[in-house]
Amino acid sequence: MSTPAPISTSAPARKKVTTLTYRQKKERGEPITMLTAYDYPTAMAVDRAGIDSILVGDSLAMVVLGYENTLPVTMEEMLHHCRAVARGARSALLIGDMPFMSYQVSVEEATRNAGRFLQQGGMDAVKLEGGRARADAIRSITEAGIPVMGHIGLTPQSVNQLGGFRAQGKTAIAARRLIEDALTLEEAGCFSLVLESVPARLAELISQKLSIPTIGIGAGAGCDGQVLVTHDVLGLFDRFTPKFVKKYADFHHEMQRAFADYIEDVETKRFPAQEHIVEMDDREWETLLKEIG
Ligand code: KIV
Repeated sequence: MSTPAPISTSAPARKKVTTLTYRQKKERGEPITMLTAYDYPTAMAVDRAGIDSILVGDSLAMVVLGYENTLPVTMEEMLHHCRAVARGARSALLIGDMPFMSYQVSVEEATRNAGRFLQQGGMDAVKLEGGRARADAIRSITEAGIPVMGHIGLTPQSVNQLGGFRAQGKTAIAARRLIEDALTLEEAGCFSLVLESVPARLAELISQKLSIPTIGIGAGAGCDGQVLVTHDVLGLFDRFTPKFVKKYADFHHEMQRAFADYIEDVETKRFPAQEHIVEMDDREWETLLKEIG
């Protein structure tokens, strides 16, 4: 195989985004941007567009691998996608999402698996789901020098316990519990916290109470940053689109159209055309014909 071409340097080089950048952006009141990516070309495009951070989310179980929820995806599959993203991104802070059962069993296992995201996946940080029950694991991972992003509210890995993909923190009691969880995760050492599907005013209140930045998804404009699943943004995942998504393209239908055009071109012999073929020198051709009689 030929050597891969280097990433084009035509776009002005950006400084590498770090967890310190996250903190500084919150202090300056500048919104933090995050999108998911699961492969090399998408990571390249998102990074070149100027995103602050890329999450290799376990959402890939659904939007790339076609599972019903995020539970089946494994450490090995996550690391495989992380490596592809790390090869495509230059400047964004890269966050690997710890899959179901990679951090729940013991603090030791959580720390070892978090380390694999940096050592074998090329990530800069990890994300894991859950509130106060995760504090010990977060403490141990951060003590190992690995930045951790927390994730509370709708935590998809607990879909069976939550009774479906439903908004969280809608009662005073539930909201208070989420505030306590957020404060506990900050105290445990998280550098940032995802708030998923919680009421906008609750997310804003949590964001004000924390000194670490919050990244919202379905949590309103009061968070310190926003994240969406790239396949939702691009209209690539046709099964369903959550209410909080803003779709910026309709690539699923665009892909279908392109594939249908290709099929028609082949069937009607419009493709391949003259410009798509390899020529052979006339003299070489004549020699060949003579040789084979
Ligand atoms: O897996 C994922 O993509 C996520 C985001 C929705 C935050 O956890």
